[in-house]
Amino acid sequence: MPRVMQETSKRYLHTGKTIGFVPTMGALHEGHLSLIRRAKSENDIVVASIFVNPLQFGAGEDLDIYPRDLEKDLDKLRELDTNILFVPGDKIIYPEGFATRIAVERLSDRLCGRFRPDHFSGVATVVCKLFNIVKPARAYFGQKDFQQTVVISRMVEDLNMDVEVVICPTVRESDGLAMSSRNVYLGAKERLAATVLYKALSSCSQMMAGPSTPNEVKKKLLEMLSAEPLVSEIQYAGIYDPATLLEIDEFKQRNLIAAAIKVGGVRLIDNVMAEYHK
Ligand code: PAJ
Repeated sequence: MPRVMQETSKRYLHTGKTIGFVPTMGALHEGHLSLIRRAKSENDIVVASIFVNPLQFGAGEDLDIYPRDLEKDLDKLRELDTNILFVPGDKIIYPEGFATRIAVERLSDRLCGRFRPDHFSGVATVVCKLFNIVKPARAYFGQKDFQQTVVISRMVEDLNMDVEVVICPTVRESDGLAMSSRNVYLGAKERLAATVLYKALSSCSQMMAGPSTPNEVKKKLLEMLSAEPLVSEIQYAGIYDPATLLEIDEFKQRNLIAAAIKVGGVRLIDNVMAEYHK
């Protein structure tokens, strides 16, 4: 049992301190650090966790090779003055006999869920456990993984969890590529080609200022992504309702333009939110 973390959190709560929580899988980059900075600015105590959660990786995915560098991560967290780092082992989170799963229905099956069937159930389960251990007032997530924020917000509401979910903007490299621990899998040529994703999403979001329909925007998105020779697969690309994650054929006030592609075998996701004014 993760007793030490749980008892520490209880002590802070008893003294009236608020806890801000940033769950991660490590290999920290500026995206993660932006969440920690935000948590620091809004809470008395900041807890970060590093746990590469086996439950959210499918068969044949990258669990075994997922980048891990605890020493470097520790340096970054120290620099930001993170109060507590929680790094549980697999057996602490999933001891013998562990049998519970959280399923956030419908939302988990859409977009990435079509290609990663048990992924969001694995995410929801671990995040629920981490919330119960860390007991945060606020928890911080990146818009980069937009579907994850929708699934977690739904879980928090459905299960009456007393946590405020705070969604923070996507942090990007100077050429627009969304930062991700998995970007290290990209070779030099793929790294260059990967910029097509954000270029396509942002030029499509600009189309919404003109008289276009979601279908036309989607067509343009697919055209731009397919024009890059190193894009080996487009898993999905389109315009979605940010609340339901369903594809739309008429613009809403807020519209999610999102895509998942493979560049030389590396899966990349990204999204932008676009406002539409009649
Ligand atoms: P991980 O991929 O390590 O991401 C941890 C948090 O950092 C997530 O909320 C993610 O959306 C955010 N993040 C990643 N890249 C970002 C970027 N470029 N800009 C802003 N935020 C970014 O997401 C997970 O881990 C796991 O699913 C987890 C929630 C920890 C559950 O296991």
